[in-house]
Amino acid sequence: MTAPIAHFNGKLLPLGEISISPLDRGFIFGDGVYEVIPVYAGVALRAREHFERLQRSMDEIQLKNPHSVDEWIRLADELLAHHPGNQAVYIQVTRGAPEKRDHVIPKDLKPTVFMMSNPLASPSKEAIENGVRCVTSDDFRWAKCHIKSTSLLGNVLARQISADAGATETILLRDGFLTEASASNVFVVKNGVVAAPPRDHLILLGITYDLLVKLAAEGALKLEIRPITEAELRAADEVWLTSSTKEVLAVTTLDGTPVGSGKPGPAFKRMHALYQEYKASLKKARAAA
Ligand code: PDD
Repeated sequence: MTAPIAHFNGKLLPLGEISISPLDRGFIFGDGVYEVIPVYAGVALRAREHFERLQRSMDEIQLKNPHSVDEWIRLADELLAHHPGNQAVYIQVTRGAPEKRDHVIPKDLKPTVFMMSNPLASPSKEAIENGVRCVTSDDFRWAKCHIKSTSLLGNVLARQISADAGATETILLRDGFLTEASASNVFVVKNGVVAAPPRDHLILLGITYDLLVKLAAEGALKLEIRPITEAELRAADEVWLTSSTKEVLAVTTLDGTPVGSGKPGPAFKRMHALYQEYKASLKKARAAA
């Protein structure tokens, strides 16, 4: 089988032909930012919003963006021409490779740009219909979780807690409040009202989170953005995970205890349907264009 085509510093190359300096600050310090964009049959979902968030992440780490949002969209489309079907595009920009290791940010270094595309692993029918199991952990990550940084050791260690428990995600609690999960945002539902944690530095502001807020408003689902206590999480009728790859999934077991009825609830079913309608509307709009 031939190696898949990836993007590296402005060129499309077989993945196996790409090599990166060991001095690259992405390798040495995890000094970089990234994005993951879901693509359904050639239609990238909220690509502009993803590249705008990439810009915000770069601003936060004082990294000059080598491309405008429009250029990024074009480059992603060029890559996607080699990857038909449902895909997840991964974009990573690191600060580049200086001549020596030094924590201080070097001036005028050329960033390293890497993009690859892999088949999108959408949630299984089983997971959509029955929900998934999650565990909780203390949120031991840093205080700048709003930056989509490639320094993911905290998230990796958090995710491993659920992997070891045979669960889908690790839901994180900081000082008695819900933040997010190791690679997803978290919503709770009580008495028909959906709640999401605040858009602050303690969570990654998910593109899917924002989409759900919009879909809830359009679909007449009541949604509040406010701090959520651990007690509220544990007493919720429904708990949801969201991310670009998971879309929206119901959590039906938390730390071994059923969430609400132990089945995906009515608000989840409504939101899942709204999400699927949104995807279908994008495909129709693309086909008509
Ligand atoms: N993760 N919170 C964290 C810590 C995440 O890593 C992610 C996404 C999200 C959801 O963001 P979005 O809706 O924009 O995908 C929230 C991606 C998919 C990943 O790292 O693979």
